[in-house]
Amino acid sequence: MDRYQIVGLLLMLVFVTAGCAASATADEHAGMAGMTGHSGMEMSDHSDMMAAHAIPEEAAAVANPVAVSDGSIAAGQATYAQNCAACHGAEGKGDGAAAAGLNPKPADFHAAHVQGLSDGAIFYIITHGREGTAMVAWEEVLSEGQRWEVVNFLRTFAP
Ligand code: HEC
Repeated sequence: MDRYQIVGLLLMLVFVTAGCAASATADEHAGMAGMTGHSGMEMSDHSDMMAAHAIPEEAAAVANPVAVSDGSIAAGQATYAQNCAACHGAEGKGDGAAAAGLNPKPADFHAAHVQGLSDGAIFYIITHGREGTAMVAWEEVLSEGQRWEVVNFLRTFAP
């Protein structure tokens, strides 16, 4: 192959790639939304949270193994103060110091759509975070017990 053939081939490659990229963009968007379960939904509809964020049914159905008690709530509160309050606010209103620049905003735990989630669903969100938002996964940071305790504490924000 001489130099001109190589240049020709490269040019062809560029055109083919560009063509594919252009035509694939629409498909990819649709596909990606399906794959991640929620990133596409994020843009459209926040009202249908539960479905929009694709919390697996089995996860939502898991019962909280940590009994609600003064002790578990206090432990959850300590974990919350240290790890969550910066964004979600000491009172759980989503108005922590770090919330100002965030989009979407941290959840307000007094909201009906949050309190309407099962313990398992909340645990799942805490564990895995929410892709595309400031809500990171806490799986590596907090033990399972700590995450369930936080769920118990979040219930104290129920209206
Ligand atoms: C860096 C900021 C930040 C920190 C720290 C943080 N969150 Fe979040 N959290 C968010 C944001 C932003 C959202 C909203 C995501 C959305 O709208 O989809 C969110 C959403 C949530 C939700 C989902 C509520 C809903 O609307 O369905 C729960 C539950 C939650 N956070 C719990 C926690 C807990 C518990 C901690 C501490 C272990 C924590 N978060 C720490 C930013 C944060």
